[in-house]
Amino acid sequence: MRIFKDPLEMQRWSMEQRVCGSSIGLVPTMGYLHNGHLSLIEELQAECDLVVLSIFVNPTQFGPDEDFGKYPRDEKGDLEMCENSGVSAVFIPDVDSIYDHSASVCVVENLLSLGLCGGSRPGHFRGVCTIVAKLFNIVQPNVAIFGQKDYQQVSIINRMVIDLNFPVEIKIAPIVREIDGLAISSRNIYLSENARVQALSLSNALQQAHERFFAGVSDASELKSLMREIMHDSALDIDYVEIVNSATLAPVEMVEMGDVAMIAAFCDKIRLIDNCVM
Ligand code: PAJ
Repeated sequence: MRIFKDPLEMQRWSMEQRVCGSSIGLVPTMGYLHNGHLSLIEELQAECDLVVLSIFVNPTQFGPDEDFGKYPRDEKGDLEMCENSGVSAVFIPDVDSIYDHSASVCVVENLLSLGLCGGSRPGHFRGVCTIVAKLFNIVQPNVAIFGQKDYQQVSIINRMVIDLNFPVEIKIAPIVREIDGLAISSRNIYLSENARVQALSLSNALQQAHERFFAGVSDASELKSLMREIMHDSALDIDYVEIVNSATLAPVEMVEMGDVAMIAAFCDKIRLIDNCVM
């Protein structure tokens, strides 16, 4: 497995592989790898000659009061997992090699980023779009994969790829969950025993709304109230509970098949998100 820290060396290697006819799949991550990340690697290995995984805790997508400094990191463990999973190359740059002090260009999406996580985390998706655009230019992948877990993120990246003509195919992978339903996340490590139990109400709320929808309830406000109640009962600090159109991410009044229920909540100050396609 190759390990690159320097963006130029990463780019040179990728270009050489592409010239030799190999296809490259990219898995962008912020590290502290878990089974959700591993599922993305596996999915790309099935269709690309080489899989590159990037590890970069991207400072520009964290707000000033957010957990950039405390975000979990485990470089050694991550590299071991990549090696064991048959990853071809890991790109693990330093912040200084990615962001030039005099940089003045970024990528801003102006529609899908406004609500949901973008509403509560101003500037977050500008940071995400900018780093993902840079990773695409550095790693030069044919295909890149993102998890449905971050539904808004992958919708925005899809839009960016279309609007800026990136020659990259975007794949979406299903949410990997713990046995009890909790969506796996690097931040779950910070949940106390008590908060871990509370956190279950996110997936419970989504599952119950999903069941109610299939039992014939399509009024979005009724389904949202149900989810709020379930989360409220667990004393979660709700950020948002929404049901949106899958393409526009605009809230719907009457829920149709394919719409997406999306929730975000703080559990012991740890921000968790989850969603479910109806
Ligand atoms: P990170 O949170 O590390 O997630 C990396 C990728 O793994 C994302 O595409 C995310 O949706 C996916 N993922 C996370 N948990 C998952 C789960 N339980 N099941 C399936 N996939 C899961 O998302 C980011 O990093 C960053 O914003 C990034 C795109 C790397 C840009 O900095």
